[in-house]
Amino acid sequence: MLEKLIENKVAIITGSGSGIGKAIALSYANLKAKVVIADINEESGKETSKEIIHHGGEALFVKTDVSSVESVKALVETAVKKYKKIDILVNNAGLEYYTTIEDTTEEQWDQTMAIDLKGVFMGIKYVLPYMKKQGSGSIINIASIAGISAWPGLGVYSAAKGGVVLLTKAAAAENGKYGIRVNCICPGSIKTPLLEEQFFAPQSDREAAEAQLLKHYPINRLGEASEIADAAIYLGSDLSSFVTGHSLSVDGGLSSFVGDLI
Ligand SMILES: NC(=O)c1ccc[n+]([C@@H]2O[C@H](COP(=O)([O-])OP(=O)(O)OC[C@H]3O[C@@H](n4cnc5c(N)ncnc54)[C@H](O)[C@@H]3O)[C@@H](O)[C@H]2O)c1
Repeated sequence: MLEKLIENKVAIITGSGSGIGKAIALSYANLKAKVVIADINEESGKETSKEIIHHGGEALFVKTDVSSVESVKALVETAVKKYKKIDILVNNAGLEYYTTIEDTTEEQWDQTMAIDLKGVFMGIKYVLPYMKKQGSGSIINIASIAGISAWPGLGVYSAAKGGVVLLTKAAAAENGKYGIRVNCICPGSIKTPLLEEQFFAPQSDREAAEAQLLKHYPINRLGEASEIADAAIYLGSDLSSFVTGHSLSVDGGLSSFVGDLI
């Protein structure tokens, strides 16, 4: 039963050349979904698709910039032309700047909003007509724990991800009657290039920074990208058929823990 969860479903996954998106693409392909790898980085995106095909899976790479309307439209049209339907859209592509609000430049604000928030809006907007026509679909937005609680140094990122959480609820409310479910996942700290390059690299003592971070995690470790992929399998499949508008925290307990008070 479990191996049939998303078999033959067509899934577009943005930002799937690296980290969480790549893990979702590999897990979906492993369960025999047909995956459309959409990434701005041609080299890493092609690498993900090659890896899937090498292991006998079905994948198509489409170079995509989620902040460009033409690019998102072309992605959706290419996927439909090839596979005739879109069952799942994972809006995962994103970036962050780890800097205070005061030190954030206007360019960093614009770029964060264009990719992390507008990119999600456009993904949803341009798959909806196809999903409505089919009468079914599951949209999964990768938000963040920083989208539901404040994290000093991630204020602008939080503003974008908080927008994703509410956009998810609005899209779910508008489209449930068409058989379309819209949910988001709020990951905690997941071991990916983004966490390493944006969060850990600027710290003077990498090990001390990780130890400090782990004090906030009841599970006492960082997350794996595959653990976010497991949540995306649940939300993409009929196992979650009565779940919509939900923000699923996959965060090792971070968001439910106030920290050691004494
Ligand atoms: N890693 C974490 O701890 C963590 C925590 C919470 C949320 N997230 C979110 O998860 C998502 C994936 O993050 P990750 O950690 O895997 O990062 P990552 O940097 O490893 O991967 C991000 C991918 O997105 C692609 N991308 C960037 N801009 C793009 C654009 N304009 N168009 C298309 N693709 C683009 C990159 O090329 C890259 O392949 C992001 O939305 C991020 O905000 C990550």
